[in-house]
Amino acid sequence: MRSSLASVLVASLLVSSALAGTWNINASFVGEDFLSSWTHEDIADPTDGRVNYVDQATALADNLTFVSSDTLIMRCDDTTVLSADGPGRNSVRLKSNSQWNYHVVIFNVRHMPQGCATWPAAWETNDSDWPGAGEVDVIEGVNDVTPNTISLHVGSTCTMPDSRDESGTPDSNNCDVDTDDNSGCNVANPTNDSYGPDFNAAGGGWYAMERTADEVKVWFWSRSDSSVPSDAATGASTIDTDNWGQPVAYFPNTDCALDDVFSANNIIFDLTLCGSWAGISSVYSAAGCPDTCVDYVNNNPSAFTDAYWDVAGVYVYA
Ligand SMILES: *[C@@H]1O[C@H](CO)[C@@H](O)[C@H](O)[C@H]1NC(C)=O
Ligand SMILES: *[C@@H]1O[C@H](CO)[C@@H](O)[C@H](O)[C@H]1NC(C)=O
Ligand SMILES: *[C@@H]1O[C@H](CO)[C@@H](O)[C@H](O)[C@H]1NC(C)=O
Ligand SMILES: *[C@@H]1O[C@H](CO)[C@@H](O)[C@H](O)[C@H]1NC(C)=O
Repeated sequence: MRSSLASVLVASLLVSSALAGTWNINASFVGEDFLSSWTHEDIADPTDGRVNYVDQATALADNLTFVSSDTLIMRCDDTTVLSADGPGRNSVRLKSNSQWNYHVVIFNVRHMPQGCATWPAAWETNDSDWPGAGEVDVIEGVNDVTPNTISLHVGSTCTMPDSRDESGTPDSNNCDVDTDDNSGCNVANPTNDSYGPDFNAAGGGWYAMERTADEVKVWFWSRSDSSVPSDAATGASTIDTDNWGQPVAYFPNTDCALDDVFSANNIIFDLTLCGSWAGISSVYSAAGCPDTCVDYVNNNPSAFTDAYWDVAGVYVYA
């Protein structure tokens, strides 16, 4: 009895370790899928940006959102001079209708918004239960400052060890939103082609995030990086993250009960302007940006011509 139970346990351990990094496709989103399976959130920007998030009908009518068979474009208005006492610049915030708990998401992005005042993000949370459901920011930055920043923000005590197996550079290791003005625990990518103008000049690339009870990992491959795994690059039906090499960011559960501070999340793309990070005057001016952030947004529509996302696809594995 005892020995047969032991052999069953050994067999199941072998199976689970062989399959640890294996995931099956759950959903893929390309072109039109972003209109049928995602929602334009026409909400007040929770980060107080100088934007006016519009609904899908308005976004399509004004060509702020555009889809073709293999492309999603999302941008802010780049033609209107704003009245200082009127609403902010029209922009888009797009949220998946589905939510996932343990999963891998791959973002295949050709271009991200750039320019002074911009604060784009590709990220996850459940925005009716923030911070209780946790938040993972996969692509995020402000005012074209490179490199990219990867962050977790959670609703209770959660810290990251100083030394982890990752290629990025950890900054804050405290993930609790109630510490350090909600800076989150962050890791900076090692290369400047991870964000903004340099990312765009390289033709973008692939970001992938894996979340389990044990860890959150993020990888990045620039467009011409020959080390991109073929399963990640092609949106394969099955992927194996164990073959993806060292991640840029590794957030283990050693000092953080990831299972308690995360639950199912939506995937969100947005583009806000100014607000509680990009618009902090010291942050804005340190980036070499002119004027005040809000005046710049109000008066210079043509400065936002390159403030657009061009997304080839989003692939979710569960
Ligand atoms: C809408 O935007 C797309 C993508 O940038 C562009 O190809 C198309 O010409 C635009 N359509 C109009 C009517 O401006
Ligand atoms: C995909 O994920 C959703 C949300 O987590 C889940 O309800 C559904 O069963 C999954 N479908 C497949 C085919 O795995
Ligand atoms: C998101 O949060 C709301 C509010 O707490 C909750 O009702 C909903 O079930 C959550 N969604 C998921 C998928 O957990
Ligand atoms: C990366 O960009 C930052 C500012 O955005 C700059 O200070 C730094 O020199 C750049 N690094 C390289 C290797 O070009």
